[in-house]
Amino acid sequence: MSGALITLEGVEGSGKTTQMMRLERWLRQQGRKVVHTREPDGTRLGLAVRRLFERPGVHPKPLVEVFLFMAARQQHVAERIRPWLDRGRVVLCDRYADATVAYQGYGRGVDPDLIRELNVRATSGVMPDLTLLFDLDPAEGLRRIGGRRLDHFEREALAFHRRVRQGYLEIGRAEPKRVRLIRAARPPAVVAAEVRAIVEDFFRGA
Ligand code: TMP
Repeated sequence: MSGALITLEGVEGSGKTTQMMRLERWLRQQGRKVVHTREPDGTRLGLAVRRLFERPGVHPKPLVEVFLFMAARQQHVAERIRPWLDRGRVVLCDRYADATVAYQGYGRGVDPDLIRELNVRATSGVMPDLTLLFDLDPAEGLRRIGGRRLDHFEREALAFHRRVRQGYLEIGRAEPKRVRLIRAARPPAVVAAEVRAIVEDFFRGA
C-alpha cells in the first residue's frame, strides 16, 4: 500500500466535515491525488446502516451498534479504502475506527478494548496514518448544529456527548503521534491553517 489514510474525528458540530473539504481542495492544489469518504455511509451498505438508525421502532442495543458500524467499516475498507490506498491515493475519511471507541465505548459503555479488537478485524488492519481530532465543548457543537434536523446520535443528551469527547481525548493521549488534537472552537480559517501545517509535517515525515 502506498497511499495515506487520514481520518477526521470529533464531537457533533466540531466542523470536521467542512475542514475535510477545505483540506481536500488544498491537497489537490499541492498536486496530490486525493479522495474523501465518510463512515458509516461510504458505501451503499454503510448508507443502509445509517438509515437503519433512523427507522422508527429500531433501537439497537449498544453492542449491536458496534456490530453495525463494524460491518459498514469492513465493507468500506474492502470496497473503497484499500483499493484507493493501493492506487496511491490520499484518503480523507470523516470518522473511522476511533469513532466506535468514542461513541459506543465511552458514550454507550461497551468495553473499549473489545471495540479495539473488533476494529483490527473490521479494518483488515488498515489503520489511520494520521488522525485529526477536532476538539470542542459538545454544548457548543450542538448549538452550532441546532438549526438542522438531528439524527439518532445528535439527539442524545449532553452527558453522552461529553463522554464521547472524553473518549476522544483519551484516544489522543494514548497515541499522540498518530492523533493530533486541534482546538475547533477557533475561526474556521485558523483551524484550516493548523490542519494544513499538521498535514504538511506529516508528509514531510516529521
Ligand atoms: P456524522 O459523522 O455525520 O455526524 O454521522 C455519523 C454519526 O454516527 C455520528 O453521530 C456518530 C455516529 N457513529 C458512531 O456512533 N459510531 C461509529 O463508529 C461511527 C462511524 C459513527
